[in-house]
Amino acid sequence: MRTYLVTGGAGFIGSNYIHYMFQKYGDEIRIINVDALTYAGNLENLKEVEGRNNYTFVKADICDKEAISRIFTENEIDRVVHFAAESHVDRSIKNPEVFVQTNVLGTAVMLNCARAAWENPDGTYKEGKKFLHVSTDEVYGSLPEDGGYFYETTPYAPHSPYSASKASSDLLVKAYMDTYHFPANITNCSNNYGPYQFPEKLIPLIINNALQGKKLPVYGDGKNVRDWLYVEDHAKAIDLVQEKGRLFETYNIGGHNEKQNIEIIHIILDTLQEMLPENDPRKEHINEGLITYVQDRKGHDRRYAIAPDKIKAEIGWMPETMFKEGIRRTIGWFFEHEEWMKNVTSGDYQKYYEDMYQGR
Ligand code: NAD
Ligand code: DAU
Repeated sequence: MRTYLVTGGAGFIGSNYIHYMFQKYGDEIRIINVDALTYAGNLENLKEVEGRNNYTFVKADICDKEAISRIFTENEIDRVVHFAAESHVDRSIKNPEVFVQTNVLGTAVMLNCARAAWENPDGTYKEGKKFLHVSTDEVYGSLPEDGGYFYETTPYAPHSPYSASKASSDLLVKAYMDTYHFPANITNCSNNYGPYQFPEKLIPLIINNALQGKKLPVYGDGKNVRDWLYVEDHAKAIDLVQEKGRLFETYNIGGHNEKQNIEIIHIILDTLQEMLPENDPRKEHINEGLITYVQDRKGHDRRYAIAPDKIKAEIGWMPETMFKEGIRRTIGWFFEHEEWMKNVTSGDYQKYYEDMYQGR
């Protein structure tokens, strides 16, 4: 039975990936999820899997060498899927250091521990061992509004402390592949959306605020473009890269779904109106009047757009979920999980929201 070590599995994409993997492989695989449970990690995301015999949760920081190396000595790990990171650009602008700590040093610890466990004395590696580093399209910088795409060969040009820390972690993984022939892949994906996304990110924040009749903060002119991908499609791509991809390669993953932020907000408002029952009192306040233009993000990248040509040609992966369907599924999920939203927005979230948006 193959054993996966997933880092950051209690976060948004990691928890969706774990659900996807158990749906696909059932009892054929074992998953160990290591997560420090920062503000972004939530074991409620994994309630349905916690009773499984082939699932184990370990609370640990990926920067803690002893804790991570213990996982490797106590278990025969076959695959690492490395999600754990500080992931929010606005937080990185306010407090960059923790991004360097987790995203760069944490990745170095993961690489060192995996290499120590997997490398043979002659420099080869034990059969079938693979490390997948989950990264972002933001490492490529910003595209002009009128054209161009990010390819795997696009030079790195990160702008935010977040993207600079992810770029650094990617370069470390590349250095391990080049120097030690370490068996890894890197994936660089565009913006994800879907169930379990923390409401600091655009889509869940807008859904939550609109339902509560709160202002919908739009940075700058609202015309920045992102390339949105339904999270389950990302989970599928990650699995396929480990199953069918060529080792040592980078694969870009994207939704072929570019939208301006302001378009996203209009789609969410329209979809909420369509999906809420006729007599729901919230329908009264869900309208464009909530849209509020606020001060722009510092160093705000204008446009991201991925060319997923390589992953399509080599592995046959393509985004399957159309945005109209994905956003309905996401909103439907938030309707059914009001308690989840209440829990994650109580306590510290209120302070975060005030610090980030008051006077903006
Ligand atoms: P998230 O913030 O929702 O989750 C991050 C998880 O990592 C949380 O569970 C958190 O507790 C855990 N974590 C943070 N620091 C840790 C540490 N020091 N030790 C152990 N665990 C720690 O993030 P996400 O949106 O799910 O993103 C996951 C990965 O995918 C990240 O590497 C991110 O850069 C990348 N990515 C995200 C997107 C996106 O749109 N969200 C797109 C492309 C790539
Ligand atoms: O591109 C992949 C990246 O996508 C991931 O690597 C990051 O982890 C993830 O957070 C995301 O980064 P973005 O900065 O693109 O996502 P965010 O949801 O924070 O913002 C999306 C766009 O919406 C961006 O142009 C900023 C804008 N925005 C965001 C918020 C939170 C607003 O206009 N208002 C807001 O309140």
